[in-house]
Amino acid sequence: MEELKKFMVLGTGNMGPGIALQFARAGYEVWIWGPDEKYRQEGISHFAENVGDLVREGIMDPGEAAMMGARVKVTTSLEMAAGVQMVVEAIPEELELKQEMYRRLEELCPEDCIIASNTSTLLPAALSEGMQHPERFLVAHFWNPAYLAPLVEVCGSKHTLPGVKDAVMAILRKIGNEPVLMKKEIQGYIGNRIMHAMNREALALIGAGVCSAADIDRVVLGSFGPRFAHLGPMEYLDFSGMDLIRNIQSYLYGDLDHTPGVLPVVEKLVAEGKLGLKSGQGLFDWSKKENRIRENRDKEFIRRRKEVS
Ligand SMILES: NC(=O)c1ccc[n+]([C@@H]2O[C@H](COP(=O)([O-])OP(=O)(O)OC[C@H]3O[C@@H](n4cnc5c(N)ncnc54)[C@H](O)[C@@H]3O)[C@@H](O)[C@H]2O)c1
Repeated sequence: MEELKKFMVLGTGNMGPGIALQFARAGYEVWIWGPDEKYRQEGISHFAENVGDLVREGIMDPGEAAMMGARVKVTTSLEMAAGVQMVVEAIPEELELKQEMYRRLEELCPEDCIIASNTSTLLPAALSEGMQHPERFLVAHFWNPAYLAPLVEVCGSKHTLPGVKDAVMAILRKIGNEPVLMKKEIQGYIGNRIMHAMNREALALIGAGVCSAADIDRVVLGSFGPRFAHLGPMEYLDFSGMDLIRNIQSYLYGDLDHTPGVLPVVEKLVAEGKLGLKSGQGLFDWSKKENRIRENRDKEFIRRRKEVS
């Protein structure tokens, strides 16, 4: 850990600059890489926006914000990877593009440099196929926004060295994240699997005419939603008691939705062009509904960051 000084984050979009900010706040030097000048400019403005968010919320003081420029540089030169101890890749979610990037990186970075991908869906075994040293590769899946959400799901392939996983877990804790190390690779990782299992049931209830989308949101926000901001759902199972849970599972689980693939209600919305906020209509009519999604999405993360800052 003492030898760690410099990191590189690839990608100047939604995720890259936010991940870089996490490293920079912990005092490390970071290169943010974008493929050309247009993306370099994007990286500069996204990074400044992220810093601005933290200052506006009172999580970062203006003095610290002023120091960020000295620690973080945005470049189009991948050669800068030669001087870093870890690279986090956050380029588009395309397998071959990422694989090609790791091949280029391996020619440039030191032998002991760790290469991590922020992929949301691709698996580490597939991503590291073709690498000379897949033992230095793993997935570190930051959640969005990376400078506010604490979770990073860490997942290696069967080739990843245990020491590499340990080192990444230690680095992530050092920069203020709360990483979870997965014991094996599985599609969707952990958080998205749980979230989509809930979404499948909710959409099936809407499709079956049991309730509206607004009712689903009311039910969650008026019951287990707020509870799970402070209590883990698995802790809550133990609180309820496994005998009760066993009975519930025996009555209910056979009845829960098991639709394989895309749900009919989603297919219908897409076919009608009702894509959600971006088209003005999805499950809700956004021309009539107040949009506080961005603000509410990050509210609890901000409250928690304020507590520790
Ligand atoms: N957006 C999210 O909420 C989120 C959350 C977790 C993980 N991820 C994952 O993080 C990665 C990046 O996602 P994002 O939302 O920041 O993407 P994005 O499209 O916003 O940004 C991708 C960046 O990659 C670079 N890029 C563009 N074209 C490229 C090319 N041809 N070759 C190399 N680099 C190129 C650019 O700098 C661009 O800004 C993806 O793997 C995604 O699955 C995204």
